[in-house]
Amino acid sequence: MQSEVKKSGRLIKAPENFLVKDDAKSPELMRRKFLAASVSSAAASMAALGLAGSARAAAPVSGDGDPNILNLPTHSTGLGQPVAANPYGVPSQYEKGLQRRESPGLTRVSAASVAFTPLQGTFGIITPSGLHFERHHQGWWDIDPSKHRLMVMGLVRNPKVYTMDDIMRLPSVSRIHFIECGANTAMEWGNVAVPTVQYSHGMVSCSEFTGVPLSVLLEDCGIDMKKAKYVLGEGADGSSMTRTIPLDRALDDAIVAYGMNGEMLRPENGYPLRLVIPGVQGVSWVKWLRRIEVGDQKWATKDEAVHYIDLMPDGLHRQYTGIQETKSVITTPSGGQTLLDKGFYNISGLAWSGRGKIKRVDVSVDGGRNWRTARLETPVLSKAFTRFNIDWVWNGGPAILQSRAQDDTGYVQPKINQLREVRGTRSIYHQNAIQSWKVAESGEVSNVQVY
Ligand code: MTE
Repeated sequence: MQSEVKKSGRLIKAPENFLVKDDAKSPELMRRKFLAASVSSAAASMAALGLAGSARAAAPVSGDGDPNILNLPTHSTGLGQPVAANPYGVPSQYEKGLQRRESPGLTRVSAASVAFTPLQGTFGIITPSGLHFERHHQGWWDIDPSKHRLMVMGLVRNPKVYTMDDIMRLPSVSRIHFIECGANTAMEWGNVAVPTVQYSHGMVSCSEFTGVPLSVLLEDCGIDMKKAKYVLGEGADGSSMTRTIPLDRALDDAIVAYGMNGEMLRPENGYPLRLVIPGVQGVSWVKWLRRIEVGDQKWATKDEAVHYIDLMPDGLHRQYTGIQETKSVITTPSGGQTLLDKGFYNISGLAWSGRGKIKRVDVSVDGGRNWRTARLETPVLSKAFTRFNIDWVWNGGPAILQSRAQDDTGYVQPKINQLREVRGTRSIYHQNAIQSWKVAESGEVSNVQVY
């Protein structure tokens, strides 16, 4: 292979676009199937470039020139589509493969399931609204906002019922925050379970939320500050989703939100009203919010006393562990992708902390022996995604890529064995260990655990 014709940075996308139910049951089967498919599709693209037989070479500049440059395409000579052909814009037809996806077999019915965000295909820190992960306990609804009501009651002097119009007249704020389901990465507590970052880490998204600070509503109703200690949020769906929120958190940065990324919330994400509790696990971000109660003790509802608790190695449960600790993951190169060439790659990923800002992210390409500090791209916001990037020249040998984040409290993301020492292997929630992606000599990237 001649250096002047070398083209670097090419990779085959992860196979999630082709995931079918049976494949998901066996990541190994899926990996083999993908390898077979990727070899044939790599061969096909090489053949198309006239490079059959050289799996790593790029297209040489031929004397005939590139027909994509020489022949004027119709889009350069004809009239394009009119404005408002799509009154509400949609992504390019060539980006159809990038979708949030359900992990087949994870739950018995799709109404009580998760659709994961394709982190491997998003840029920057904002998750497009249509790719924001969804987690419902009993299906989602598109609720008529003119009939939706929010009741605020309990330890307040003036209990009130608000219409959406009432709420949207109040002073509002817009803030960028991540939301992560406490069960994100849950499948990986025992061992490697899923092949791609979409399924290992895709129960997290980051959006700009707009709404009324919860403190404003509580003040508006005359909260009894002498007695009040907790606030309860209740959803209007059939799941009886109710969660206790400590008062200091409710008065700090919690929002009763109706906007997401510049538009009204999407129905799947709680339209027309949801709670935003920055830094806290997703289950407390009650969707289709219809009631807020102020009280002086925890309610111990089913979704905090029986579910969303941490089973510890001694058999006891931890309850009310809401904060999502510092976590990061390399989104590209990541599991299921295949690197086609040696040379330069931009390692890119996301880091977040439920306690504040990301201070630093270190990246290793040798399974944690050596670390280099990555570039944090601005903005670096509190309780929001931070995008990190670092240069890497792949020499074609085996490599293990890892990222390790630190937040401004000094907390450092743990290794999986450090986490297991404290939490055991039978937990579900709050798995924030360092993620490892193995790059094989073939260029194939897979999910591994490094202790
Ligand atoms: N609120 C109601 N009313 N019903 C639900 O099923 N799911 C919770 C939370 N709020 C849920 C809910 C869970 S477990 C999570 S992780 C987040 O919503 C997911 O929010 P999203 O679907 O907008 O990503």
